Amino acid sequence: MLIRPRRNRKSAVIRDMVQETRLSASNLIFPLFIIDGKDVQTEVASMPGIYRYSIDRLLREVEACLNLGLRAFDLFPNIDEALKDKYASESLREDSLYLRAIREVKQHFPEACVVTDVAMDPYSSDGHDGIVENGEILNDETLDILAKMALAHAQAGADIIAPSDMMDGRIGYIRKVLDENGFSKVSLMSYTAKYASAFYGPFRDALNSAPKHGDKKTYQMNPANQREALIEAHLDTQEGADFLMVKPALPYLDVIKLLKDNFDLPIAAYNVSGEYAMIKASARNGWLDEQRATMEVLMGIRRAGATAILTYHAKEVLEKKWL
Ligand code: PBG
Repeated sequence: MLIRPRRNRKSAVIRDMVQETRLSASNLIFPLFIIDGKDVQTEVASMPGIYRYSIDRLLREVEACLNLGLRAFDLFPNIDEALKDKYASESLREDSLYLRAIREVKQHFPEACVVTDVAMDPYSSDGHDGIVENGEILNDETLDILAKMALAHAQAGADIIAPSDMMDGRIGYIRKVLDENGFSKVSLMSYTAKYASAFYGPFRDALNSAPKHGDKKTYQMNPANQREALIEAHLDTQEGADFLMVKPALPYLDVIKLLKDNFDLPIAAYNVSGEYAMIKASARNGWLDEQRATMEVLMGIRRAGATAILTYHAKEVLEKKWL
């Protein structure tokens, strides 16, 4: 035998030398859930180890993460049901939980990179990402609300705005409003290929944001489609996105690779709540080696082509020195 691939696997030194993919703290973005109140920290039942934090606790959590070398955070608000309405108006109130949280984090930790989520669902009495009229999700009417949300996030200090709503044309619409208001430096991380997925279940528990009726299939993508992601990616690129995101990550590694091979923008992948819950549940049952399974998942997402990985495992892998 002339060619023996096992020679390059014979020792740890050689294996490390020929390792093709590397993962580091700089690739990770940590999603954090925020809730109203003082000194509150409640665990999400379907996401062991993940909590909803009141702002004072959030600041302590961000500080702990920064000390571990984790520097990018994506914030999501849990909004009191009484504050929700058809137009998500709470999202624009100057003193709202979310805008206060962004301001506080940036004030205390200007070095932290704050990613904010633009979509109506945490604030919507319908639990949808757009305005609902006679059971239909309105596209163009929703754009104006999304752009106002994005502008409010920029004014509060957001570094990167991530529209997760999947309305057509929102990247260009938001980009224009940000630029007209002097926020040309604020980045857009577009949820480019966001699929209508069962794996968002635990996240909707965390925020109590599940749709009150119907599903999200008229705006989120069909899990059977790959080529359609190219249409979305072309649009986002033309409309001024700075990152293209694929979500969820694991069932869509082919889509991550497809966008990586066809576009020059950095690719982000969202290792979503249900993917996290699967690992935690099997680890708790003793069915998987949690450390190895977690690192294999993150490495797989990175290998497929994602440079930024939004993951609930982010803090733990640094804390336990798995990385
Ligand atoms: C909603 C949004 C969702 C997630 C991020 N933003 C859920 C949904 O579309 O219903 C899911 C994240 C996760 O599951 O971890 N705009």
